[in-house]
Amino acid sequence: MKVAVIGTGYVGLTTAVSLAMNGHQVIGIDLVEAKIVKLRQGISPIYEPGLEEALKQVLENGTLAFSTKLQEAADADVFFVCVGTPEAADGTADLRYLYSAVAAIEQMHQASPKRRVVVVKSTVPVGTGDKVAELLSGCRELSVASNPEFLREGSALYDALAPSRIVIGAGEPETREVMEELYKGVDAPRVVTTRANAELIKYASNAFLATRISFMNELARLSAALGTDIVTIAHGMGLDSRIGPEFLRAGVGYGGSCFPKDTIALLQLAAQNGISLGILEQVRKVNATQPVWFLQQLQPFVPDCRGKRIAVLGLAFKPDTDDIREAPSLAVLQALEEKGAAVFAYDPIATDAVRQKFPNVTYTKTAEEAVQGAHAALLITEWKECVQLDWEQVYQKMAQPVLLDGRNAWPAKIVKEAGFRYVGVGKS
Ligand code: UDX
Repeated sequence: MKVAVIGTGYVGLTTAVSLAMNGHQVIGIDLVEAKIVKLRQGISPIYEPGLEEALKQVLENGTLAFSTKLQEAADADVFFVCVGTPEAADGTADLRYLYSAVAAIEQMHQASPKRRVVVVKSTVPVGTGDKVAELLSGCRELSVASNPEFLREGSALYDALAPSRIVIGAGEPETREVMEELYKGVDAPRVVTTRANAELIKYASNAFLATRISFMNELARLSAALGTDIVTIAHGMGLDSRIGPEFLRAGVGYGGSCFPKDTIALLQLAAQNGISLGILEQVRKVNATQPVWFLQQLQPFVPDCRGKRIAVLGLAFKPDTDDIREAPSLAVLQALEEKGAAVFAYDPIATDAVRQKFPNVTYTKTAEEAVQGAHAALLITEWKECVQLDWEQVYQKMAQPVLLDGRNAWPAKIVKEAGFRYVGVGKS
């Protein structure tokens, strides 16, 4: 099929590349000229494992092209809208990019009408797809589908090629058929439903995942007080098939572009409908206080941080990405600076973005360099480079062998045997 993907950000680019890999003829559209120039050369503006190689391949095969002009996509059958829906000042999703993309499609369609499907892939509040359909109701041959994505950063391309499920929200049978055709050959369960249901599936999924994390983080606080081990507890819980083992990892809090933004948007949506989602409110509160609680564990070892060197290992919101949006590392750096600590931070790829926000932090080239002379080392992101360390060397380098493991990823037994004072999150 001929497909246009509007917006070449995280979701758009991954969608465009995966559809092109699956044999569709795809054109990616973005207003930012500089981005399009780079993409045409096979340069990905985001770091995502495997994405750039795949991009180069589909460019070479000629199944993917890029343009700043929507008119160049006029012969497409399907228009994916993958623009950003950032958090507005009041916490609701800001839909201005979405509506301007829809207006552009409408204009193009009026100039050359034919049967087309507009697919909203951006995460949007429930009712947006219906509103888009209403806006486009004057264009008889245009129909609207909601098709949320469930991509995880760091494995986005894999998730796009082998999705856990394909959710299709569309009323008319012809629209559903087009969507089925688009995903023909992709082996994943389908949920074919209304647009509103599809939209809520997306928010509900992210809110539930965030809930699991905050539940475990709060339980980790209890576990720390009781002297129990949250990792063993999570393992024991996860063996119950009704619970499952995923997303039970206690840590320094969740971050990223989705959970923080989508949980607040869902709360706002509920409030607008007179519903209070009390559990979700607590989920956000626990997440906001988790870095603070984590840093309190430093107190017995470094009662006064002033002038003390503290190593912060990992800055990205999770490994395998350079994304620092809502990363817990930012709250940790902020608090350490307020306490007057001399912070030495390391991340394999995310330092540039953090440097702009925290120019007074010293950024090192290796984890070993960061721990040099440190009174404590904090693990914030479980990058391989931050987890697999030469413990003997680290022990020699530190001014005080104190490890605060914000991801329960360091080998507790080994480091304790090596002489370190070790504290994890709900695990000692
Ligand atoms: C998430 C959803 O997983 C994805 O389906 C959706 O489309 C977008 O949002 P992403 O933000 O890329 O994906 O990252 P994810 O792997 O879900 O992790 C989010 C945050 O939760 C990270 O900061 C991670 O460190 C944290 N996390 C995850 C935990 O603290 N504990 C866990 O057990 C799992």
